[in-house]
Amino acid sequence: MPGMGNSLRAAALLSFVVITILVSLLISSVQQFGATLTNFPNATVDGGDEGEFASLRKALISQLNERRKEIIPLLSSVDKEKDLPGEHRYYSQRYQAPESNWDYSLWNEITDGSRKAHMDEMGCEALVDVQAVDILGSGYTKLVVKVVLPGDQPVALKLVNDQGTDMEKCLQDFKDPRGCNELVSYKLKKEIVLLQRLKHPNVIRLRGHCLGDAGRDGGRGGEGGRVTVILEQGSPLQMIQLLQSPWEERFRVCLGLVRLLHFLSHSPLGSVALLDFQPRQFVTVAGELKLTDLDDASAEEPTCQTDADCTLQFPHRNFTLPCSARGVCEGLNEKRNIYNAYRYFFTYLLPHQAPPGLTHLVDHIMNSTGELKADINQTLEAFERVLLLYKSGLHLDNLPPSIIRDYTVMRGMGTSGDVEYRCWPSYSHRGCVLSVHSAREAAFICNSHSQCTSFSLTGQKTWTGRLLASFRSSFSHLVPDGTSEVYLRKAKPPETTE
Ligand SMILES: Nc1ncnc2c1ncn2[C@@H]1O[C@H](COP(=O)(O)OP(=O)(O)O)[C@@H](O)[C@H]1O
Ligand SMILES: *[C@@H]1O[C@H](CO)[C@@H](O)[C@H](O)[C@H]1NC(C)=O
Ligand SMILES: *[C@@H]1O[C@H](CO)[C@@H](O)[C@H](O)[C@H]1NC(C)=O
Ligand SMILES: *[C@@H]1O[C@H](CO)[C@@H](O)[C@H](O)[C@H]1NC(C)=O
Ligand SMILES: *[C@@H]1O[C@H](CO)[C@@H](O)[C@H](O)[C@H]1NC(C)=O
Ligand SMILES: [Mg+2]
Repeated sequence: MPGMGNSLRAAALLSFVVITILVSLLISSVQQFGATLTNFPNATVDGGDEGEFASLRKALISQLNERRKEIIPLLSSVDKEKDLPGEHRYYSQRYQAPESNWDYSLWNEITDGSRKAHMDEMGCEALVDVQAVDILGSGYTKLVVKVVLPGDQPVALKLVNDQGTDMEKCLQDFKDPRGCNELVSYKLKKEIVLLQRLKHPNVIRLRGHCLGDAGRDGGRGGEGGRVTVILEQGSPLQMIQLLQSPWEERFRVCLGLVRLLHFLSHSPLGSVALLDFQPRQFVTVAGELKLTDLDDASAEEPTCQTDADCTLQFPHRNFTLPCSARGVCEGLNEKRNIYNAYRYFFTYLLPHQAPPGLTHLVDHIMNSTGELKADINQTLEAFERVLLLYKSGLHLDNLPPSIIRDYTVMRGMGTSGDVEYRCWPSYSHRGCVLSVHSAREAAFICNSHSQCTSFSLTGQKTWTGRLLASFRSSFSHLVPDGTSEVYLRKAKPPETTE
């Protein structure tokens, strides 16, 4: 992961920024970004003349309008029909960009209207009393901080990353802090709209948002202020950590991803592609994968004249799709997502240590996604079949049933004074805790570990409903424990005579 050193450095830098941001949220200061068009610095690339000023401004305004146009089609049809006239708020008195036909009040419509429609949403008022501050992550565009709302509710706040590449580049190009804040804020606004329209268990939950200064005007600060998105809190996806976790947890992440991609292919917005598809755009919430970075999602399939226009290019593979009669690369978004899932997730997470009875199915999934032979429906079906088999234990049919006879079972008992050994990949750092379908599978595992002399089932289950079994080399005594069963391996007879 090349970004690691960077993110540490960023974290140090940004902690300062976060404090500043939150202080400004808390005191709801009216202080705005200094630069306006009237005190726009004279110095531009060539020492600056009036003409160059104007062209910079024009370019920025045209970019702002591009961003707006990107969002409009994402609004629901009801919103779209409200064809409100108007102009950009900040620049409205000064510039009339010809293509801008919508009012910023459309945004109020989105925010106020949606707030009423989704009663669980929070607004700026929720941010007035934030408790704790920490950085969860940052990217080119956004900064994500961890806060605890009154009532012990942990949430994540997304803000414009003032130190990010997006902001830096804009400032270089336009030298207009306020205009750039507005430009970069559009990515957050686009994300708010997408989060409202693409609700799914594998998409981070939008808890609310605040446009403008917290507490100042109930969040109706409009275009000029700071945009804050309030999200369910997750943990950034740690690929390295995930690589060391049990197959069951890695499979869970891949399954969540496939369920997400199936949803995105048939979403209310049409087939949605994730253009920036990398593990860092996802988080996990209690082990479940959730997409958090949506500002690079696109619901448009490219238009085409020939098949050659429908080429998907990846570093090691190219694919060409047929150009449909309508002149659209149909299914391109879905295929792009599937191949990205294959190359960023499946190759690392899926084959390694797959349960023996499931390897042929996993291999088939690897091949059909890596070659783009299966569509997302077939891929989801294949994943759900693996899940079903894994849960049912049917893949264990060839374990000898007699294996459990090597053990004496003591129900309602636990152990104390355990001597544990480590195994990999264990659910516990100290000992050997693995998920099993049944005592029979646990017995099979214990037989295969030379140190193992007993194991316990405690009734604890994994997300699939499989049982957690802890294996040990010895223990000093048994203690009553209503929820637990201890299986003690019978001493091996020196010579088997039966
Ligand atoms: N809800 C969340 N909970 C925890 N961490 C998050 C959450 N959302 C984002 N992050 C972290 O913050 C980082 C930046 O967020 P992201 O939306 O990807 O910004 P950018 O668009 O700048 O890439 C992500 O890579 C992720 O690690
Ligand atoms: C900008 O240019 C004008 C006229 O050329 C000059 O009067 C003014 O002082 C300059 N402002 C700055 C901030 O340099
Ligand atoms: C994919 O296509 C590009 C552009 O046509 C070409 O340069 C590249 O070599 C191709 N890559 C592979 C792996 O075929
Ligand atoms: C899929 O299987 C074919 C035939 O066995 C093989 O040539 C190909 O490399 C496999 N592709 C992937 C991505 O695993
Ligand atoms: C895939 O599944 C979706 C929803 O379950 C369904 O609407 C669609 O028709 C299916 N597509 C194909 C090609 O089977
Ligand atoms: Mg990101």
